[in-house]
Amino acid sequence: MCGIIGYCGPKEAPRILVEGLKRLEYRGYDSAGIGVGTDGRLTVIKKAGKIRTLAEHIPEDLTGTFGIGHTRWATHGVVNDTNAHPHTDCSGRIALAHNGIIENFESLKEVLRSEGHTFHTDTDSEVIAHLIGKYYSGDLEKAVREAVSLLRGTYGIVCVHAEEPQRIVGARNGSPLVLGIGHDEMFLASDVTAIIAHTKQVVYLEDGEMASITPSDYRTSDLKDRTVEKAVEKISWELQEIERGGYTTYMEKEIMEQPESIKRAMGGRVEPEQATAHLGGLNMTTRELINIERVNIIAAGTSFYAGMVGAYLLESMARIPSFAELASEVRYRNPVVERNSLYFAVSQSGETADTLYAMKELQRKGASVLGICNVVGSSIARASDGGVYIHSGPEIAVASTKAFTSQITVFYLFCLLLARMRDMSLETGLGFVRNLQQIPEKVSQVLQSRQHIRELSQKYCGYRNFLFLGRGVNYPVALEGALKLKEISYIHAEGYSAAEIKHGPIALIGEETPSLFIVSDDHLKEKILSNMKEVKSRNGKVIAVCPKGDHEIMDVADDTIEIPSTSELFYPFLTVVPLQLFAYYCALELGRDVDQPRNLAKSVTVE
Ligand code: AGP
Repeated sequence: MCGIIGYCGPKEAPRILVEGLKRLEYRGYDSAGIGVGTDGRLTVIKKAGKIRTLAEHIPEDLTGTFGIGHTRWATHGVVNDTNAHPHTDCSGRIALAHNGIIENFESLKEVLRSEGHTFHTDTDSEVIAHLIGKYYSGDLEKAVREAVSLLRGTYGIVCVHAEEPQRIVGARNGSPLVLGIGHDEMFLASDVTAIIAHTKQVVYLEDGEMASITPSDYRTSDLKDRTVEKAVEKISWELQEIERGGYTTYMEKEIMEQPESIKRAMGGRVEPEQATAHLGGLNMTTRELINIERVNIIAAGTSFYAGMVGAYLLESMARIPSFAELASEVRYRNPVVERNSLYFAVSQSGETADTLYAMKELQRKGASVLGICNVVGSSIARASDGGVYIHSGPEIAVASTKAFTSQITVFYLFCLLLARMRDMSLETGLGFVRNLQQIPEKVSQVLQSRQHIRELSQKYCGYRNFLFLGRGVNYPVALEGALKLKEISYIHAEGYSAAEIKHGPIALIGEETPSLFIVSDDHLKEKILSNMKEVKSRNGKVIAVCPKGDHEIMDVADDTIEIPSTSELFYPFLTVVPLQLFAYYCALELGRDVDQPRNLAKSVTVE
């Protein structure tokens, strides 16, 4: 995710900014830049790649006592020097760094273009610099206020003007911004990590608030220019603790981020009144969408399991025959590409070779393949005929967690879109939207039970084999739970449909092999309950993930992990999170390298 820092004070701004950006590196980024003000001039330097590359391009004699810096993680526009921040307006006197996504940037850009503004980047962020330039008449704070009131979407911004030395103006809506108070110096940053080496006195801005800072003073206000008095808070963290945003590992951080990352995947894509979704990047007309007769999903690993959830949904709700298949198998089985079939290639990294090559093989046979990717500008995203970014933010831990829940979010949206074009009534659609919108809060509730899950992991991590069992839409979740456990804890685990155990795996059941059942309150519950009893009667230990207060399940299971209730098809969001946490705590307990498990890489670019 992008990072921001702004500084004004007596020290050399270039050094402070680069140091701050280095502290933000853990978030993941692809380019970086600074804008420094001195003697009525602004110098902007930006580079794709690492911060050390940027630092090498900063002239030794560059001085200045105020400026802004940014690490970019591309969302709009490829990774290159030009698209890196800060962005400037037409006059070159204003520089701006932005975190977030501006949803109405295209219409704003069109208006600005018709007024004579020239754009140099493919980013959504550049329009903000031009809007500020348009409204500037000697008061930067006023111009920023007017500009941001036209934005739709999320932003955390910092902005400077060459003629307002040592002033930085910031504004926030949906992307964090914190103000740091030092001795004769002030900071604005997206994350305290960037400034903690200089001050622990901070003021957190809320959505709809702005800040204007100078070395000796600051003012916080709202978008109507009313002063907002804010408490100064003391950061209790030490520098070392916050390198991963306060978490011990990236994996823990990424699991905990899921309420936010799911919201981001939905951001601006739900049309609540019409109970439908819009996914702009699909590049498909309504007619083409209506004509789809079959959906095929190709992917690997966790993305494949997300695809299985997607196929289940599309078939049950949109009534379209849908299948998920391992990309590595598709490529070599000489697939038949049927007319009116739509293909999805799902990949967090967008670089998985199996998926990329299978996709190209399908395209060679005339298929239209859409991408569902996290990394903007990745090979799969570029090679696809259209697609949807999941906007999870960087996923650094090798074990994929938040990408899974964001990928399935996109499938829920796509399913809603297609279902509403077919049989789904407005009323059912409204219920679907309501259920989806409640998911982030319910995921937060699941995360609150992590201490209990940790205790269960301590109790069970000594076992060498596990079965993960689920049915229906939770069957892929069982497969994902087993994958998580084996990849980071090195405990052998198999995922199965609970119905399948009687066809073989039941031979493994005994005191030495616990089974983790996923049970939701749907039409298959009674059948799973019977499977649980079959395991119990063979001395197998049973852990059940089940809706809160389900005594029928609690009476049979040895241990339970309770989750909030939701509508039948929405359970995967809530059942997968406990399995991620269970695997995570087992791995911690066993002393594994959670973020970089042996033999594994984050993106698998070989076959
Ligand atoms: C999951 O935790 C993995 N490490 C792995 O299975 C991963 O999902 C797979 O390699 C696919 O990666 P992609 O989503 O980047 O294509």
